[in-house]
Amino acid sequence: MTSHQPNLNRRSFLKVSGAVLIVAAGSSVWRAADQGIFSAGTGRAYEPWKNWRNASTATERIVAAGILASNPHNSQPWIFHSTSSAIDLYADFERQIGVIDPFRREMHIGLGCAIENMVLAAAAEGLQAEVHLLPNPGVSSHIAHLELSAAAPQSSALYTAIPNRHTNRGPYDTTRPVPSESFTSIEQLVNEATVRLFWFIDMAGRTKFSQAAEAACEALIADEQQSLDSHAWWRQDWSMVQQHADGITLDAQGLGPILTNLAKFLPDGSRQQNDQIFVKNMRQMILPTAAAFGILAVRDGMDNTQHLECGRAWQRIHLWGTTQGLAFQPLNQMCERADRERQLNSQPILNQAVRELVGDDSWQAVMPFRIGYPTQAAHPSPRRRLEEVMPHTES
Ligand SMILES: Cc1cc2nc3c(=O)[nH]c(=O)nc-3n(C[C@H](O)[C@H](O)[C@H](O)COP(=O)(O)O)c2cc1C
Repeated sequence: MTSHQPNLNRRSFLKVSGAVLIVAAGSSVWRAADQGIFSAGTGRAYEPWKNWRNASTATERIVAAGILASNPHNSQPWIFHSTSSAIDLYADFERQIGVIDPFRREMHIGLGCAIENMVLAAAAEGLQAEVHLLPNPGVSSHIAHLELSAAAPQSSALYTAIPNRHTNRGPYDTTRPVPSESFTSIEQLVNEATVRLFWFIDMAGRTKFSQAAEAACEALIADEQQSLDSHAWWRQDWSMVQQHADGITLDAQGLGPILTNLAKFLPDGSRQQNDQIFVKNMRQMILPTAAAFGILAVRDGMDNTQHLECGRAWQRIHLWGTTQGLAFQPLNQMCERADRERQLNSQPILNQAVRELVGDDSWQAVMPFRIGYPTQAAHPSPRRRLEEVMPHTES
């Protein structure tokens, strides 16, 4: 020991190290609190899930149901205008998720999901919504006009499920198969003539789907622009979650409480590290624990009206599944890669794989997903509030 090092006796050493521990623990608690470890699902970004029935007018309450819909990367690409007898839905093209969705297929599916929620909410409000899709051929951002007229109030199980529906990215229960009646009931929910559901239930079908999904994930992270555009919607910091009220969050990853809190606690991973974890998770947990996979297909994979109709069907399926205690997660990477190949005019690897999965060239895959019973509850994703998505509302 050199002369200028403090000569701590045992008692003062314990005192100093105790103080260091308290300071360290204090800063850990502070970081934990700062990253929202103690406040998952709370704050302004989550209020729309709780106050969706509280707005003062029926049209606002209908829109409040619309914004709780499933949508790509939680980009919430919507703007609503309303009068007392109509709601107009517009696409916010600035919220396109880049070359993950080069033809805005997913954007239109998500907007279709919002339309379905609004139709269900209108019925519960005693209003029948007559839906006109893409009503203005000169304005591609004008997605739908909902004409509202008085009707007997009709609250449905699907309407009641709106605030309980969340994408479940956790492991599904491998000991609990989905009964065949559930597959039949889900098929019956698809009543759009231009939409059809293909199932992958047996081992051979699930393996084929998983191979395509895994190949798509690997190709996606190897495409730097797709990786960057996806990462742009990643919200690691709790303050970012609350500020933006959009995007993909740690809480919604289905990692379970211990891993989620650890991930919140540790410094942010790089985009490349997150990409690697994403593929590993897909290979080791997401695909192997699925009870089955499905693909929603449309007649024309480039037709936005059909994408909107597909979105309505998807939202209905997810809401119905919620009433049955089923978990769902869209797995769109194979379609994202197929679109990207088309955009770049590159070798149609995933286009071919997806075509083979569907096995019928008169249908084109637009919305692949997995289904199963959950092993853990899914957390809600943040949402932008009514006033942020509903400018110039006339009363
Ligand atoms: C067209 C479309 C594509 C989607 N693709 C994926 C996907 O590939 N992987 C995934 O985990 N979630 C996917 N989702 C789910 C969204 O990320 C999710 O709906 C959004 O983050 C909001 O969360 P919530 O559904 O829990 O409200 C997709 C949703 C839509 C509508």
